[in-house]
Amino acid sequence: AEPATQPAWASLVREIPDFPSPGIVFRDICPLLADAEGLAAMLDDLAAPWRGVAIGLVAGIEARGFILGAALAPLLGAGFLPLRKPGKLPGPVVEEQYALEYGSDRLQLQAGAVAPGTRVLLVDDVLATGGTLAAAARLLAQQQARVVGAGVLMELVALGGRARWEIDAPLVALLRH
Ligand code: PRP
Ligand code: ADE
Repeated sequence: AEPATQPAWASLVREIPDFPSPGIVFRDICPLLADAEGLAAMLDDLAAPWRGVAIGLVAGIEARGFILGAALAPLLGAGFLPLRKPGKLPGPVVEEQYALEYGSDRLQLQAGAVAPGTRVLLVDDVLATGGTLAAAARLLAQQQARVVGAGVLMELVALGGRARWEIDAPLVALLRH
């Protein structure tokens, strides 16, 4: 269910006009991360929908998803799996490509890092066009993981990213703008 009012920590997410390029309103979570009370409250809210759900791994998307996901994992009794941009992980990797506004990027994980059937929760800070989160879900599905859902701090509704979430599992956004 959608909360009637925004949580107090929402005011700690700063809006930066024209970053990183003209016309983009960048949602900067650094002030929220720097605030001890806000950080703790936000993590508690991020965990809430998944309490009581069996989760083996929280998978965080580089880079801001690492911050949130690694903090969230122990709250849910789960381990943490970094989904990385290309060229960062040693050994055989598996990858998934996704489209950006201009060009494309890839997410990788180490082959064998996710046992088949592992219950995985995806985490990131912002859902924008949805390409990143959808690619992460495909990458995990390719490893026969069971994606039990996704949690994001913020959904930029006008960009329609939710339509690209094709997994039969909840995508929970704490804030919608
Ligand atoms: C941002 C954000 C999400 C992604 C959302 O990451 O943290 O991962 O964009 O965009 P989408 O829904 O349109 O795919 P970015 O690629 O800027 O990387 P960063 O976390 O390293 O800053
Ligand atoms: N990732 C994609 N769009 C973003 C935005 N407007 N603010 C922060 N992160 C983003």
